[in-house]
Amino acid sequence: MVTKVIEIEQIKHELDNDLKKSSLSSDVDKLNTKYLGKQGRINFLFKTLPVKTDPQLGKAVNELKNLIKDKLSAKLSETLSHAQQDIVDVTVPGLEIPQGSLHLVTQAIEEIESIFQKLGFVRRRYPEVETDWYYAEGLNIPKDHPARDDQETFYITNNTVLTAHTSNGQLREMELKKTPPIKMINIGKTYRRQIDATHTPMFHQFEGLVIDKGINITHLLGVTEYFAKSYFGQERQTRLRPHHFQFTEPSFEIDVTCGVCQGTGMVHEIPCKVCKSGWLELGGAGMVHPNVLRNGNFDPEECSGFAFGWGVERVLMIKSGLPDLRLIYNDDIRFLKQF
Ligand code: DAH
Repeated sequence: MVTKVIEIEQIKHELDNDLKKSSLSSDVDKLNTKYLGKQGRINFLFKTLPVKTDPQLGKAVNELKNLIKDKLSAKLSETLSHAQQDIVDVTVPGLEIPQGSLHLVTQAIEEIESIFQKLGFVRRRYPEVETDWYYAEGLNIPKDHPARDDQETFYITNNTVLTAHTSNGQLREMELKKTPPIKMINIGKTYRRQIDATHTPMFHQFEGLVIDKGINITHLLGVTEYFAKSYFGQERQTRLRPHHFQFTEPSFEIDVTCGVCQGTGMVHEIPCKVCKSGWLELGGAGMVHPNVLRNGNFDPEECSGFAFGWGVERVLMIKSGLPDLRLIYNDDIRFLKQF
């Protein structure tokens, strides 16, 4: 009897020692087995009680069993709450989530749009699949005209194409607005059967159209210069060269000074490799042809206008010195990540 009482005290003492050494829930599991398991200390105590046991002793063992249960479960919740605190360590630096960015062409489009918006131009989008009227006939390009061969067009049906230029937007805008003034910038996708370092089958153009009373070439020049200086840099100059387009008269090509040689054509006394002449071609422009105005139900006696159509990828190349356009559309993440 006395030995059993001593044993009970010893077990209590041992348990307290064991608990002090335990910090993980797995330690508590082990103690559970050690004290309360089938082969555990408590069962052993019960089994080894003398046959004629003092009821007080049986009660003392039961109390010990409950005490152990309580202490173990208290310890278990303590270890678990510690473990949770360990998981939510707010001082650990967060995982870096890779951040995307706008595609180079989208960035260029947004920049172009904002430059023209400052001049009061309204952004438009017109169909990429277009009928012959808006795309050619209405723009003063008759069916048998060689100008139709100039652009290697993708035909959908005999009468519909994937637009090879954004000039279809001119007639559509006149149809929409019905009367002057018009001041729109139509930025859209264009398609041609071409692929090399400076041409892709799908590319983008921005088409400007201004129609009002008394519009003349100086307005075209002013807008061109404002765009070139805003987009490429204040030091850039522009010039007009006579050219021919069916839908403008007179027609021009617009050039901008090269950013590499600053328009001199020479770099360290060697001819500039980028432009050879000091000038880079921006694109076509001109005064809207009277036939086109009439096709849009505008009266060429009453109003006049200018138009231009330039390539988004082209201005991007001129500005950034990008050597090969195909890089833009190859979705090589090492290239795209830089922008
Ligand atoms: N549509 C022509 C092209 O893609 C570019 C162009 C030239 C647009 C003269 C115009 C313009 O609006 O007036 O080559």
